[in-house]
Amino acid sequence: MRNRTLLRLFLCLGVAVLPLGAQQNGGPHLEKRGAATQLIVDGKPFLMLSGELHNSSSSNLEYMKPIWPKLAAMGLNTVVTPLSWELIEPAEGKFDFALVDGLIDQARQAHERIVFLWLATWKNGKSSYAPVWVKQDTRRFARVVEHGNEVEILSPLCAATGEADARAFAALMHHIKEVDGTEHTVLMMQVENEVGVLGDSRDRSSAADKAFAGAVPPQLTAYLAAHREGLYPDLRELWIANGAKAAGTWTEVFGEGERVDEVFMAWQYARFMQSVAARGKAEYGIPMYVNTWLPSDNTPPGEYPSGGSQPRVVDVWRAAGTAIDFYSPDLYAANFEEWCQRYHRDGNPLYMPETRGGAAGAANVFYALGEEAGLGFSPFGIESEAGDSDPLGESYKALAAVAPLLLEHQTAGDVHGFLLDRERSSVDFTMNGTTLHVSLDSIFGGQAESGFGLIMADGKDAFLGVGKGFRVTFSTSSGLQVGIGAVEEGNFADGKWIAGRRLNGDEDDQGEHWRFDPRQVRTEKVTLYRFE
Ligand code: DGJ
Repeated sequence: MRNRTLLRLFLCLGVAVLPLGAQQNGGPHLEKRGAATQLIVDGKPFLMLSGELHNSSSSNLEYMKPIWPKLAAMGLNTVVTPLSWELIEPAEGKFDFALVDGLIDQARQAHERIVFLWLATWKNGKSSYAPVWVKQDTRRFARVVEHGNEVEILSPLCAATGEADARAFAALMHHIKEVDGTEHTVLMMQVENEVGVLGDSRDRSSAADKAFAGAVPPQLTAYLAAHREGLYPDLRELWIANGAKAAGTWTEVFGEGERVDEVFMAWQYARFMQSVAARGKAEYGIPMYVNTWLPSDNTPPGEYPSGGSQPRVVDVWRAAGTAIDFYSPDLYAANFEEWCQRYHRDGNPLYMPETRGGAAGAANVFYALGEEAGLGFSPFGIESEAGDSDPLGESYKALAAVAPLLLEHQTAGDVHGFLLDRERSSVDFTMNGTTLHVSLDSIFGGQAESGFGLIMADGKDAFLGVGKGFRVTFSTSSGLQVGIGAVEEGNFADGKWIAGRRLNGDEDDQGEHWRFDPRQVRTEKVTLYRFE
């Protein structure tokens, strides 16, 4: 009892609460290892080859039954599985975890892991997944006001909503710890989904107006000052352009207009969700993250959820607490690499709970895991594309075979991933003193339209590559020339390299190029030799 009282006191003071029982028991946690932050499960790094279900699939166990084995056959090891507040607390204080237990059980039978997606106060900016007892009590659970009207979005400024959500989430995490604290089927929790005010740049309820007219919390300005150099450039510029003030009202510190509205809303959502996550972690401290609806550049906040963890306000989220471990893009944009870089920075590891699957996903996963040391990858609506011939499945199976090595090389920082097409047909990088010139595959006058892959250093003058549609030449700055000694195709079984054909002749362009032809994803090793 005394411990609980102390815990509440710590939570109220905003003190970071150590995860209870997860890490100590081999439970899922994040660890900074060399050049990467990795998910550690049962003492070993774990690469999530995942996919997110459509919103409603996991609301019914019968519906899910045939889906698990299909996803496993496609090479997934993890499923991002929606779980809604309305289904686990249909009446206030009456929890029903039968669905949670059933999903965990089904996942185990299919040898899958789960990332649960806590659809609670917000989903795509709206509040459709809150229980009816919350939705109908508009006095107790205040709504956002836009253009003079209440809308069906619960306000992040309402303490009663924060408390009800946090209580339910804590009960859920308590239960997950009870049923999964040893087996670790559940790897991480996504807190809410794509939050932010849709329809206006900020909440204009009287509570929001009052807070907006008041002072910026010193916790936020102190964070900006302490992290000045590392802040995301847009936020740093906004703060500096307005005098880099240590105190003042929101408009004094961040200026007038939509940008200050977005910063203000980011603080409100962040405070709410940091506290929900902290209450859950106090029960079971597995990693927790937040996902983000991404706008195209120059879209005004409100046309996308204003206050969500966009790169330009992610520091505001971080200033509000440490219970949320990282921030994620829902990445459907064409400039995939750029968005990955915007999120993989300043200690934030990359995981995208939602992205494109199919041929695009089959390529992008190599960049995300290889170049950006991603924790995992997760196309949306995954059950719709599960099938033997799906290109994503081909990529996942090849990556699963090299996963232990890839994880080692992520920490060593000697792995590169790349995406090539006719517009960007080559890329160079240097590893172990050798420069690799990677370009679209081409032989006998025909050129691949696209290519993708990743390459890891594999000891001195040797490399391991996975992918298709590219070729590689090598050079050094030592004055010596580099030749291709041998190329082998192969695979890994229980971590051991099983060599297949020796590729010489057309397959390595008669010794000119290390080639990955465009027809299928291949795994190959190359050994080089040097000469004068
Ligand atoms: C993003 C949301 O986060 C998902 O739940 C889903 O609504 C997709 N968009 C639909 O494309």
